Amino acid sequence: MLITGGSGFLGSALTDLARTQGWNVVATYHSRRPPTQGVHWEALDLRDGAATTALIERYAPDIVIHTAYRQEGPDMAAITVDGARAVAQGAYAVRARLIHLSSDVVFDGERIGRYSEADTPQPVTAYGAAKAAAERLVAAAHPAALIVRTSLIYGGPERPGRHEQFVLDVIDGRAEAIFFTDELRCPIEVGDLAAALLELATLNRSGILHVAGPDIVSRYEFACMVARAFGRDPARVRGGPSPAALRRPRNCALDSRIAQSVLTTRIRGVREVLG
Ligand SMILES: NC(=O)c1ccc[n+]([C@@H]2O[C@H](COP(=O)([O-])OP(=O)(O)OC[C@H]3O[C@@H](n4cnc5c(N)ncnc54)[C@H](OP(=O)(O)O)[C@@H]3O)[C@@H](O)[C@H]2O)c1
Repeated sequence: MLITGGSGFLGSALTDLARTQGWNVVATYHSRRPPTQGVHWEALDLRDGAATTALIERYAPDIVIHTAYRQEGPDMAAITVDGARAVAQGAYAVRARLIHLSSDVVFDGERIGRYSEADTPQPVTAYGAAKAAAERLVAAAHPAALIVRTSLIYGGPERPGRHEQFVLDVIDGRAEAIFFTDELRCPIEVGDLAAALLELATLNRSGILHVAGPDIVSRYEFACMVARAFGRDPARVRGGPSPAALRRPRNCALDSRIAQSVLTTRIRGVREVLG
């Protein structure tokens, strides 16, 4: 199994779990090589398309899970869009299965209710547009790829992710923010997502699949849950509506019923995990 972004939040959970499940894992990093033993680490820069496909062709893995990306900055398109296409081309060339990680922000967030796999992406941010473009290029380069859209990834008190760290930074006075009461997401615990992806690695599915938590919560509710779970006072979390001028996708709730029906892995709601 080749995991791109093995040094990232999801990638490291995935790499650890894959190793304990007995997979022979090659994982990539870009700027920081993790110390984890029992994994074959490779440096990768997705901006170099030829090197990206060459790395995959050299290992000829059975499966590639592509998590690496960049959410902002001048290189976002080269990494998140063109890099994803190079990964898909490499995986296709060696007939590897491919699971490509995508995001709920491919949607505009104006819907009442949940988005299903049949809904058409309509991104309103540069990052959302990059992830939507990556989906199209991946599907064209590797028609059997599985494109997994997920939502806000968190880890709980034992392995807090950047969303939780940001809440703590605000509560502890290191940053300032208002948490939006109208921005809805379906948070998923990183270990649950890693387990679901490894189960999907063994299933013969292609196309788009939504894999997110069952609970819909606002950024504000999420921040209050994080506060309680990390022993802080939720009264210190300030909430309010998102200003229209920000053009952020508000309701990105995903309908994950298909994933629930094909997976034996149970994906827990954030109220259960942090509650
Ligand atoms: N986090 C969320 O809440 C969320 C929500 C929805 C979807 N997703 C999707 O889930 C996936 C994983 O997200 P994450 O939060 O776990 O990511 P992350 O922690 O930010 O990790 C990003 C990874 O990409 C690597 N990377 C950055 N630039 C690179 C480059 N030029 N070449 C090769 N690798 C590069 C990083 O390597 P170094 O650290 O070594 O530089 C790191 O391993 C992404 O595809 C994202 O779109 C995430």
